[in-house]
Amino acid sequence: MNSSLDTLATARRSIRKYVDKEVPESAIREMIALAATAPSPSNQQPVRYVRMVSQDVRHRVFTDMETGYESRVSQAKKLEKPRKAINILNHYRRYSRFMCHAPALFAVGVEKGGASFSKRMNRAGIPMGEALGVMGKDISLGLSLQLFMLGAVEQGLGTCILTAPLHFLDSDNPIVGLENLRVGCFVTLGFPDETPVDPGRKPLAEIYWEA
Ligand SMILES: Cc1cc2nc3c(=O)[nH]c(=O)nc-3n(C[C@H](O)[C@H](O)[C@H](O)COP(=O)(O)O)c2cc1C
Repeated sequence: MNSSLDTLATARRSIRKYVDKEVPESAIREMIALAATAPSPSNQQPVRYVRMVSQDVRHRVFTDMETGYESRVSQAKKLEKPRKAINILNHYRRYSRFMCHAPALFAVGVEKGGASFSKRMNRAGIPMGEALGVMGKDISLGLSLQLFMLGAVEQGLGTCILTAPLHFLDSDNPIVGLENLRVGCFVTLGFPDETPVDPGRKPLAEIYWEA
């Protein structure tokens, strides 16, 4: 394959260092518009991008993350052999903190609620539990994000998805302004200040076969 899509997809890297330069709002709007073309179950379009512009909110997320990290470290220290757990916590923290310095930061999530198949059937009079393995909203989130990230590459911008910070944030204490969303990840955005090497991909035979 040698299409422009292939070029964009292979050029995309997770960027964790950014030039200190504002991202034009017009670029963000184009990326969101591209992301909005993603398919979703019954065209529900559940994905939301919340740009975190308030320094207060960003600071609050940072301090909540640090508090979550510290409390897990204290827990780990009570173990007979704490090193392993502390190493994991430090790794996740290292891959979380850079988001606080990114020129643009988004919380990306899906709307809470909505009528699933089983809820609609229950209402129609047939009691049903949630089906196993149905991840419509998560799939929608991923499809949308991929377009968002490719849209960034097209404009000379870099992104990085982050889920590590969510492990330090308390789900009982939602991020201010995001109470109606189930946040799936954060995404950083800016002009890249690094050119990471391609970390490589598994061979086709490992990810595709006939059964
Ligand atoms: C769902 C998901 C969660 C991720 N979480 C983090 C994260 O918390 N911190 C981070 O630095 N990178 C994170 N990444 C980026 C991956 O580490 C990266 O995509 C992977 O190493 C491949 O590198 P590439 O994106 O440059 O191809 C995440 C990626 C995905 C898709």
